[in-house]
Amino acid sequence: MSFTPASILITGGAGFIGSNFIHSFLANNPGCRITNLDMLTYAGNLKNLTDVAENSQYRFVKGDIGDAALVASILVQEKVDAVVHFAAESHVDRSITGPEIFVRTNVLGTQVLLEESRRHWQSDVVTDFRFLQISTDEVYGSLGDTGFFTEETPLAANSPYSASKAGADLLVRAYHETFGLPTLNTRCSNNYGPYHFPEKLIPLLIHNIINKKPLPIYGDGLNVRDWLHVRDHASAIEVVLKTAQPGSVYNIGGNNEWKNIDIVNLVCDLLDSRLKREPGENRQLISFVKDRPGHDRRYAIDASRLKNDLGWEPEYTFESGIAETIDWYLDHQEWVADVTSGTYLTYYEKQYGERP
Ligand code: NAD
Ligand code: DAU
Repeated sequence: MSFTPASILITGGAGFIGSNFIHSFLANNPGCRITNLDMLTYAGNLKNLTDVAENSQYRFVKGDIGDAALVASILVQEKVDAVVHFAAESHVDRSITGPEIFVRTNVLGTQVLLEESRRHWQSDVVTDFRFLQISTDEVYGSLGDTGFFTEETPLAANSPYSASKAGADLLVRAYHETFGLPTLNTRCSNNYGPYHFPEKLIPLLIHNIINKKPLPIYGDGLNVRDWLHVRDHASAIEVVLKTAQPGSVYNIGGNNEWKNIDIVNLVCDLLDSRLKREPGENRQLISFVKDRPGHDRRYAIDASRLKNDLGWEPEYTFESGIAETIDWYLDHQEWVADVTSGTYLTYYEKQYGERP
């Protein structure tokens, strides 16, 4: 099966993964129009997209995925034939201190997008259509020392964040089963790479090491995450969008499990040499702190369905990906300073007026 979108609505394209996807998709598909609908929360930053802002195939719309009238007008005006839905509240820690916005954005916002997509798809404005829900391995809950999440693993979300993503995934399934909407659902493991907001582990480590600040390790540091370069995630999404059977679910991952403490040590050591510090100096910044409540012990993705059905494989090795990522942050200290100080809000306001 092959699907060639002519006009995509990307939600949350000013965030970490969405902006990386826009860069690669525009480069790979110069004939496709992209509309980026993003509310520009604290996590959305138009500086992630400065090099595509003038591309005639690209248009930015500031707005909320929960605004049905706005979503409907974009779908019609742009003759959208594919929605790739990244927009979300994405940080587990924030979902523990403030779960309500996670339900509003991730569950209710997704329902609005699905409903407007259903109306649009049934209105004959476009001949073919896809709705791709970008989800997470966290919907499957937590693994013990062995085993992998497959697409058949029951949903067992443990945090308000993952529960809201699981709720959205079930709505996507329901819109396919009930209305026949041609949906797709991908569930990816932890991403790393450029434009990652420095509240998440890897960019937080890099930022704190550069600034000689403590490196907070939750619990015993033995929780395991399965890391994938964000550009490999983007390439997998493109393959699923263009070639997967509507109604299908695909895990995305690169078989790259790391205990948190091992990642922390690795990043410390790579930055020792780059920052011309003594070997082992950065490890002295490590500080074990109280564990995250409900902290999932281990994630590990079985992505064999994606490889066997659609032929996708990651391109990055972790060694090259993490080294390149560290160098990107060292070379983009202005970007980091902006997002940590909030001055990019001013950049936004200058261009588009007051933020929500
Ligand atoms: P992010 O927090 O960096 O970006 C989220 C974007 O969504 C921001 O630009 C924000 O402004 C926008 N947004 C939030 N609420 C909105 C609303 N109501 N209307 C319009 N835009 C809104 O997130 P990310 O890390 O890029 O994650 C993107 C998607 O990928 C999420 O759905 C997340 O669940 C999923 N995911 C993330 C990872 C990961 O490791 N980061 C892994 C697997 C899946
Ligand atoms: O698995 C995919 C998920 O990965 C995505 O769905 C989420 O959007 C994304 O945020 C990420 O969730 P995690 O909770 O795994 O990522 P985070 O970077 O917050 O934490 C990674 C691990 O590091 C986790 O075990 C908690 C730990 N950690 C995190 C932070 C921020 C620390 O030990 N210290 C920290 O300061």
